[in-house]
Amino acid sequence: MLTFSRPSRRRFLAGTAALAGAAGLGLATGRAPAYGRPLAAPAVPGTFPDVELDLVAAERPTALPAFAGKELPLWTFTPDTWLPVVRMPFGARLVTTIRNALPRPEEHASIHWHGIRVPNDQDGVPYLVQPPVFPGDGFRYSFVPPDTGTFFFHTHCNTAEHIGRGLVGILIVEGDATEPYDADEVVLVRDWRVDVEAGVFLPFTTNRGAGRAGTYGPLRTANGAVNPEMALPAVADCRLRIINFDPTRPIDLGIEGADAAIVAIDGVAVVPFPLDRWIMAPAMRIDVVVRSPADGAVARLVDYRPDDPLAIATLRGAGEPRRTGAFDPAPLRASALPPPDLVAAGTRTITFAAAGEGDAVPPDDPAFGLLGPLCLSFNDFWTIDARSWPGDGHASNPPPLAELTRGRSYRWLLRNTTQHLHPIHIHGHTFAVLGSDKRTLPPHHADTVLLLADETVEVAFVADNPGRWMLHCHIAEHQETGMMAYFTVT
Ligand code: C2O
Ligand code: CU
Repeated sequence: MLTFSRPSRRRFLAGTAALAGAAGLGLATGRAPAYGRPLAAPAVPGTFPDVELDLVAAERPTALPAFAGKELPLWTFTPDTWLPVVRMPFGARLVTTIRNALPRPEEHASIHWHGIRVPNDQDGVPYLVQPPVFPGDGFRYSFVPPDTGTFFFHTHCNTAEHIGRGLVGILIVEGDATEPYDADEVVLVRDWRVDVEAGVFLPFTTNRGAGRAGTYGPLRTANGAVNPEMALPAVADCRLRIINFDPTRPIDLGIEGADAAIVAIDGVAVVPFPLDRWIMAPAMRIDVVVRSPADGAVARLVDYRPDDPLAIATLRGAGEPRRTGAFDPAPLRASALPPPDLVAAGTRTITFAAAGEGDAVPPDDPAFGLLGPLCLSFNDFWTIDARSWPGDGHASNPPPLAELTRGRSYRWLLRNTTQHLHPIHIHGHTFAVLGSDKRTLPPHHADTVLLLADETVEVAFVADNPGRWMLHCHIAEHQETGMMAYFTVT
């Protein structure tokens, strides 16, 4: 596996001044200047025929390139590929049928459309908003995604194993580009809990991992391959939709050997700014525009988090140069998210903490009724506002973390009192991220907000989507051992 010594960004720029070009030099100050152009007006939904999607969740033995010739029993949504990428026009209705053909009795599987502000009954959380879909059963989803961008979908129970076995799909709602990019590629970054020699899965969760940073997989991949080479048109402005869909592991992403700009975070456009390093924990996405290398030359996606920075994927330029002139990536269309009223908003601190060890919820506790025992381990390592899901034994229905009034704005201080990272995901809404007590963050929106150790991040949103909505850590093992809650909007 190719690794890099960890260069300081300054040294890297000095060493590759010719490649980095003028636009990158501002990075050495640690402050990322934006490029020249502002966001364009929000996209207007068009009229299109329905997009039909047929999913059958099943075990399908698959030899991913990373598995060195071995087949492993992946769980996937479609027979033709382990990683379905659905692209649909903005304004179209997505009509999905899911059939559950998973091989284990009681292994239910509904679909959560991560980051998409769907009506509550389409949100896919079993028991909370819909009945579980047991093996042999099916379900039909039908909604018009209200936003453009890069999203994904997954099941919402026993996710350490479901994600661990590969069960995921990508959903791209087109229509946010103001001018065509020269390429548009998905890069799904994740590792696998696999012993490659033996060709077997390792246990998807461990108590040791669940109570700490999580149980990492030893086999690190992009799009199912170890440091794959991706061909891009040479000297072109290429859009990469980078998604961390590991069950557990955060990455600290950078690109070496090419100029690159972040143009969207969690599907929502931002004024383009240079990609220096960006920490992406599970479920976080960025859309990047990279000025690809010349014919035959390479650039690399790198994770700076390990002691030896790791190459995740190699980008190779091919063909005649497409672009001349300085790198000034075309911005995307602005989102149409409702702006929270920060003056009227009530402020509340929500604390994410470790539980005292040994608070396990017994499996016969009626409180298991709401999500069902499959969704939870019997251990209880984490809390939100001092409570582990499913709460303090309230029969089959834990009280909501918050009861919000439809149309009102809310300002939450998300406070992490632990030494571990927690990517906090909200359903049905998208946060405006206002700031951190530890870092300078660019103004942006996110459905999954990273809390670093001991960090407090301030967010705000308009509670405009009625229903019962989850708020949880997207490290599957943390979610399943208590760091999960829901709130209501009425
Ligand atoms: Cu991506 Cu509640 O999940
Ligand atoms: Cu967590």
